[in-house]
Amino acid sequence: MSKKATLEGNVYYPSQDVIDQANVKDYDSLYKHSIENREQFWTEEAEKLEWFQKWDTVLDDSEKPFYKWFTGGKTNIILNAIDRHLTTWRKNKLALIWEGEPGDAITYSYFALNREVSKFANILNSMGVKKGDVVTIYMPQIPELMFAMLACAKIGAVHSVVYGGFSYEALSERIADSKSRTLVTADGGWRRGSINDLKTIADEAMKRSPTIEHCIVVKRTKQDVYMESGRDFWYHDLAALPMASWKYETQKLDAEHPLFILYTSGTTGKPKGQVHTHGGYSVYTSVTHKYVFDIKDEDRWWCAADPGWITGHSYIIYGPLINGATVMMYEGAPNYPYPHRWWQMIEKYGITILYTSPTAIRGLMRFGDDWPKRYDLSSLRLLGSVGEPINPEAWRWYYEVIGKGKCPIMDTWWQTETGGFMITPIPIMPLKPGSATKPFFGTEVAVVDGDGNEVGVGEQGKLVIKNPWPGMARTLQGDPDRYVKTYWSEFAKQGWYAAGDSARKDKDGYFWIIGRLDDVIKVSGYRLGTAEIESALVSHPDVSEAAAIGLPHELKGHAIHTFVILRQGVSDSKEIRDALRDHVAKEVGPIARPEKVTIVDSLPKTRSGKIMRRVLKAQSLGEDVGDLSTLEQ
Ligand code: PRX
Repeated sequence: MSKKATLEGNVYYPSQDVIDQANVKDYDSLYKHSIENREQFWTEEAEKLEWFQKWDTVLDDSEKPFYKWFTGGKTNIILNAIDRHLTTWRKNKLALIWEGEPGDAITYSYFALNREVSKFANILNSMGVKKGDVVTIYMPQIPELMFAMLACAKIGAVHSVVYGGFSYEALSERIADSKSRTLVTADGGWRRGSINDLKTIADEAMKRSPTIEHCIVVKRTKQDVYMESGRDFWYHDLAALPMASWKYETQKLDAEHPLFILYTSGTTGKPKGQVHTHGGYSVYTSVTHKYVFDIKDEDRWWCAADPGWITGHSYIIYGPLINGATVMMYEGAPNYPYPHRWWQMIEKYGITILYTSPTAIRGLMRFGDDWPKRYDLSSLRLLGSVGEPINPEAWRWYYEVIGKGKCPIMDTWWQTETGGFMITPIPIMPLKPGSATKPFFGTEVAVVDGDGNEVGVGEQGKLVIKNPWPGMARTLQGDPDRYVKTYWSEFAKQGWYAAGDSARKDKDGYFWIIGRLDDVIKVSGYRLGTAEIESALVSHPDVSEAAAIGLPHELKGHAIHTFVILRQGVSDSKEIRDALRDHVAKEVGPIARPEKVTIVDSLPKTRSGKIMRRVLKAQSLGEDVGDLSTLEQ
């Protein structure tokens, strides 16, 4: 009889079935090999992909910390994500199953995906987009978002996807930073039964973006939108022109050619444009996806993130397509029109692996067990979590009610900067709810104090990565110094990457992520910078100074709390506090709407004038405020 999944103490062991079909059966020996022979390990993995021309050097570390991978190699991520499947039976395999929020649905085989991507590439090309140009994409979760990204890659253009929930300010700032001349958007997208007015927001952004020459608009919601003559073009009109043919030759690129820029919020005002490249990212996203999610040809893979974030880039689009997987994508809200929506789609499409965030799990858990219990979820064989630490209660609900006690949960720790999973279980590993377990192959991770000494077992410290890996961001767009300063200066002596997270390591070598050390707030798994929220607040005419902090929240993980000094003559009222919350939502995006605005007379500051957010945090939580020696008296 095969072994069942078991729980011993607080440790979950996988069933024999899971072990039997796992792509990797022995973590320890492959890990050892990958560390002792790092370059060989990555060579072996890279050789499983196709290349136009093989590399000369696996890892070029001559300009540390600007590491380069597979130099001398020629590739294009599309060669592996689409082209190579067309010469196999996978040509007719489903690449994408898509469902819109109103219930419309469509599927694309790899053959059809190639047709759509080639057509989009021709359209972009006819608008003057060339190799190396940056194309900004501001779209709802519709198939054309995937096509647009892949089309950029095929041309060798660089995509910069801006999450569809961001405001015109955020969009125009990202367009300006990347000097993008082309914007791809839609007339709108569906979210909770209403239209997210993307084109109107894009119009506001374009007014502030002198670099934009062309805007391609995909028709999704069919509402009337403003179209500026000579600048805005309907995608379907362009697609009907003879130049929009179904053939486009995938461009041969250097392995280090940039694939995309993705912005993360920073501690100072300007967002950081993380740059990822074709070669290393192809290898890293596909290998992590294959080993961690044990991907098989029969799988139907659903990463329920938004493609506008790194999770969507790496694990809706690139990793799964390189692995020839069938990808599920859904446009709308998980609980619309009812909280059964996800469970219904799992049954309807026979989803085998679900990868989502603790926030989404907590959000669906609060509607009770009856919603998922109405559906047959027996197709599921693995589950995943990402974005923030998962609390044990949500872990157990996910494991018992959704996974029926048979699906291991892959709690993957990683970042926009890392490109792919860094600390993560693989299916055969015993699991401890709330721990992302152990480092992925090829990577050494440690928890250290400020001097770089490893802290004791169970003690809190700073998370560092001790070596380069192929999926790492190469630099920050237009600001290499900031890249060095942010990630590589704290442990420059040792040459380690500072992740900006605090963590613990237990006696079994399992890592437990605690949270951010810097001024990043994770709201529902989304990354927001205190600086963005604060500058939105001070842009309001009634505000003189502001501070933002994250405080624990039952559903969102963390929620934004703000402290505001009003201008003279303006007094505290519910109206002004509500107006300020709305103002931040408008300036940054709805996800940044503060939970609470507290009006104060002063803010704790250091003598050099920096706001001491940790003091505000400790005061709000009723904790000891700690060392106040640098506080201005
Ligand atoms: O604090 C960690 C948290 O998310 C941060 C990275 O955010 P972002 O670049 O938006 O990428 C999110 C998706 C990869 C990390 O520094 N984080 C991410 N995954 C986990 C996590 N915290 C705990 N457990 C995780 N599994």
